[in-house]
Amino acid sequence: MSRIAYVNGRYVPHRAASVHIEDRGYQFADGVYEVVAVRGGRLIDELPHLERLDRSLGEMRIASPMARAPLRHALREVIRRNRVADGIVYLQITRGAAPRDHAFPKSTRPALVITAKRAVPKFAQMEKGVVVVTVPDIRWKRRDIKTVNLTANVLAKQQAVEAGAFDAWLVDDEGMISEGTASNAWIVSKAKELITHDPSHRILNGITRLAVRALAEKEGYRFVERAFTLKEAQGAAEAFITGTTAWVTPVIAIDGKKVAGGVPGPLTRALQTLYAAHADKAA
Ligand code: PDD
Repeated sequence: MSRIAYVNGRYVPHRAASVHIEDRGYQFADGVYEVVAVRGGRLIDELPHLERLDRSLGEMRIASPMARAPLRHALREVIRRNRVADGIVYLQITRGAAPRDHAFPKSTRPALVITAKRAVPKFAQMEKGVVVVTVPDIRWKRRDIKTVNLTANVLAKQQAVEAGAFDAWLVDDEGMISEGTASNAWIVSKAKELITHDPSHRILNGITRLAVRALAEKEGYRFVERAFTLKEAQGAAEAFITGTTAWVTPVIAIDGKKVAGGVPGPLTRALQTLYAAHADKAA
């Protein structure tokens, strides 16, 4: 079966899908994106993702190329045409194509691309847990905007892979862990508090992070939003990451030091179960 992509109003074969060489996303990373997980053919937390998309567009002063209802239809159509039961749908909006000039072009239409791909959730990885290494966070100061400029994330992820780790946890100039390269970082203190970075401009406010937070609070778990250091994380009772593709994945070692004996902790397990039920509700 050949894959189908949506490009500026048309459904086209994936291999023939293309954008203009002067698209500002290509030249300036002048665009935003969302990745939404698909479970049983349905989107997990679609509305929060679309709200964050609108926020990113607003911060970038890019006009939405499409109203909410037709956009939701296009997302479903790409999922349907690619027969994705479990996987992800990716959508990217750039300021559009225009002769290269840093200032905004006067009359360019934003460009919209949507793709979908099959992928089963990584249950084995969620079961076993992953190891991470820390890497300096060299990103810009508006990490709350989900822009396609992922240069620093790409370099950090590659550094992690070359070090034999699953991911990098990024450490800012004050020595605090901000987040992973495509996920949010969490620890559980010895006093059983769930700790994750506050949703400032220093991190992307993950939709999975928000869902896990809501599920945890409903269960009465104690939740604190604040930054933490590498030392605190290495000495924590548990550690894990959240993200659209990671769901809730335990972190069992950081920079070669095992967290809590190198096995996923009980609170992480409980949150995994809660999140899996939340994901299945979408299905
Ligand atoms: N990344 N932090 C960063 C830097 C991210 O890129 C992501 C998501 C997250 C988690 O956000 P969410 O729970 O909404 O997925 C946190 C996506 C999955 C990606 O780039 O592929």
